[in-house]
Amino acid sequence: MAANRVWTVFLTVLLGGLLPAAHTVQNVHPMVGMLFVHELDPAYFQKALPPTFNNYRISPTAPMTFHANLEGHPDLPRWLRYTQRTPYQSGYLYGSPTLSEMGRQIIEVTAYNRDTYDTLRQSFNFNINSRKDSHLPYQVELFVKNRDVEELLPATVQEQFQNALDNIWNLARLTIVNITSALDRGGRVPLPIEGRKEGVYVKVGADVPFPTCLREIQSSINQNRCRVEQQPPLPCYDSFLPTFKIDWCNITLIDKSTTEAPIEDPFIGDGVMESGSEFNPPEDSEDLDFLPDYLLTTLLPLLIALLLALLLSYIMCCRREGLEKRDAQTSDIQMVHHHSILANTDELREMAKGRDVPRPLSTLPMFNVRTGERTSPMPRHHDTSRVPLILAQK
Ligand SMILES: *[C@@H]1O[C@H](CO)[C@@H](O)[C@H](O)[C@H]1NC(C)=O
Ligand SMILES: *[C@@H]1O[C@H](CO)[C@@H](O)[C@H](O)[C@H]1NC(C)=O
Repeated sequence: MAANRVWTVFLTVLLGGLLPAAHTVQNVHPMVGMLFVHELDPAYFQKALPPTFNNYRISPTAPMTFHANLEGHPDLPRWLRYTQRTPYQSGYLYGSPTLSEMGRQIIEVTAYNRDTYDTLRQSFNFNINSRKDSHLPYQVELFVKNRDVEELLPATVQEQFQNALDNIWNLARLTIVNITSALDRGGRVPLPIEGRKEGVYVKVGADVPFPTCLREIQSSINQNRCRVEQQPPLPCYDSFLPTFKIDWCNITLIDKSTTEAPIEDPFIGDGVMESGSEFNPPEDSEDLDFLPDYLLTTLLPLLIALLLALLLSYIMCCRREGLEKRDAQTSDIQMVHHHSILANTDELREMAKGRDVPRPLSTLPMFNVRTGERTSPMPRHHDTSRVPLILAQK
């Protein structure tokens, strides 16, 4: 009985250690050219934590933060962004994939419980596809002044926004294409005063031309009003109020109907191999010819080396005589020099003999410079007392 209990505890500890590392995988299907939003709910991750950790009696509102990255990479792919206002609120993965991002991407999300330091990792299989009717040539970008980006990401708020625009753009099939925080466009973080928000850019697309109401805002009269910081009067009823405050000066209409032909049939699924299939390299590639390269890199230097060797041997063997001749010439010149030096010396000696001048005093022996007295270098003999005895007896 006791052994059984120990075994149970062991298993619980083992599973508790393993479970946080275990992945749960979820599939999501973003569409090209449409806004994709995935909410990371702290309550959901709290429940997903292994049961052993419920022993801590965690409050249901434990703060949680998230980190998201592309599998095998430190960060998210370019089209996908992550935001979370505070650890008590939901985090959001959102973005708008383009055609080049089509295919499969695996996003890893790690949730950190800020109270218990538990972590949980979850993988998301992003299967990015494109729809045939995803071509939305008429797009409008609106700037919502009184919202932060997280406040527009929940599906219900998005629907509210779409309904408001629907009232202006009658009978249109509207799709939210992109949502961008004003901070991502060089906007400033607002002062921490109640009611101040960063602002959000919302891009909406439709396949029906713009209503006159929207087009008239861009008239020159209204643009001049905007220049003096006056909001132009909307020619139709502003159905966004009071929930969303739109900056009617900052509205961009993008008409792609004339410049861009609708994408006929996007090539789906290429680039991702089906499981079990093999890669067959193309066989019709032509053979490369390396002969000219070979000749250039080996034969050309060899040829130059041979030429140089021939030139050198010709100089060494056949031009030898010429060198000897030159040697003889130089020695002749040297002999002439030698003779002239000898002759000059003799001449100088002859001239010196003929001089009839007394020798300079300084050259005479024992000359005293101060008194002018000359003494013979020979010893004096009159003072015998200083002469050694043997010498004096002589
Ligand atoms: C969506 O907005 C972001 C930020 O402005 C931009 O980088 C991205 O290219 C946009 N995507 C599309 C599909 O317009
Ligand atoms: C309008 O939006 C652009 C960026 O799209 C921004 O540079 C500009 O300052 C905005 N103008 C006003 C009046 O808000």
